[in-house]
Amino acid sequence: MQDVRSDFPVLKNNPGLAYLDSAASSLRPQSVIEAMDEYYTHYSANVHRGIHHLSEHATEKFENAREKVGAFIGSPNPRQIIFTRNATDSSNMVWRGWASKFLGKEKRILITMMEHHAHFVPALEFCKETGAILDVAPLTEDFRLDESKFHELLEKKPDFVALIHASNVLGTINNVQPLIEAAHRKGAVVMLDMSQSVPHMSLDVRALDPDFAFFSGHKMLAPSGIGVLWVKEKYLEQLSPVTYGGSMIAQVHSDEFALNDPPLRFEAGTPPIAEVIGLGAAVEYMAKIGWDAFGDHESEIIAYTLTSLKKLPYVRLFGPSDAKDRLGVFAFHVAGVPAHDVASILDEHNVAVRAGFHCAQPVHEAYKAGPSVRASTHIYTTKTDIDQLVAGLAKAQQVFK
Ligand SMILES: Cc1ncc(COP(=O)(O)O)c(C=O)c1O
Repeated sequence: MQDVRSDFPVLKNNPGLAYLDSAASSLRPQSVIEAMDEYYTHYSANVHRGIHHLSEHATEKFENAREKVGAFIGSPNPRQIIFTRNATDSSNMVWRGWASKFLGKEKRILITMMEHHAHFVPALEFCKETGAILDVAPLTEDFRLDESKFHELLEKKPDFVALIHASNVLGTINNVQPLIEAAHRKGAVVMLDMSQSVPHMSLDVRALDPDFAFFSGHKMLAPSGIGVLWVKEKYLEQLSPVTYGGSMIAQVHSDEFALNDPPLRFEAGTPPIAEVIGLGAAVEYMAKIGWDAFGDHESEIIAYTLTSLKKLPYVRLFGPSDAKDRLGVFAFHVAGVPAHDVASILDEHNVAVRAGFHCAQPVHEAYKAGPSVRASTHIYTTKTDIDQLVAGLAKAQQVFK
């Protein structure tokens, strides 16, 4: 994958950098930057409203990106792809635009302890506001979802299940398809957080079968400021817009208005046009590399990182210790060194990682753990990056001895 690295200008402009913070935001390839640049320099007009040829071209590129993103996740129809600001925005749209209509006092909601705050916080707020009852499925000692407890909680017949596909702290990939199927059998509507899985694996929403699913562009080689909410066809009419104004209406009179068709009814105002086009280019880039090459490279790096970290007696890793069913996301503690100090020392060694709770404090609490250091990989990560991480960790440990 060495040749892939030359596609990423940040790596060229920061020689010697080991960028291990891709679970926060990935780097972007030149083709994504060029697609956005081309929009601004050749046809930077608004979409869905102009008659002139620049606007028509921009609209075509914008809608073409919707088709590419839809095809990328197996959406039966591109109209099921709603462009949002980010994954958090997508999740909130469902709590505000669907849950507030169909769930309320005494309704049951099931989430897992592994959820990112993008699921956890809106769920807590929703239950506080409405009196809905929240059940939280626990995790196991080996850093996986406790599936038997999840199934036990399903016996309480939740009306709504919010589930993470892959953990942004533990790296654990949940086998969500049977869990979603079981939730459906109990009559629940399911929302799936695919923010960490979409950037790393071939997914098909038809096979996984959630009712709502979401992710962000900035973790999948695309720009920030763009997210996706995928909605199963039958919920497109049940979901209400949460933002009202221009573009989302078919007609407006002084005393009433009619909504536009989905997905435009959910995209009020001028959308992030360049970002959508950039997301389309990112999807094209990933498809060109191909999932086989992508997967082979990631598996090799994941196995190498695990082996390397396991050799360090002062590192306590939070996450499955085998490479199977695992992402390149490695959260850990270094004995005797606070996480933020580890990250600062690593930065001095040109290694970029994240420190903190990674917007998933309940996961840390499940293991009675304080803030952790998180190193995360992507298609451009090399074994040299991991060696640099390991050398930096040895230094951090020495400094605090
Ligand atoms: C699993 C998961 N869900 C949701 C999000 C939220 O993404 P965003 O900050 O782009 O809204 C993240 C980002 O860290 C994540 O890792």
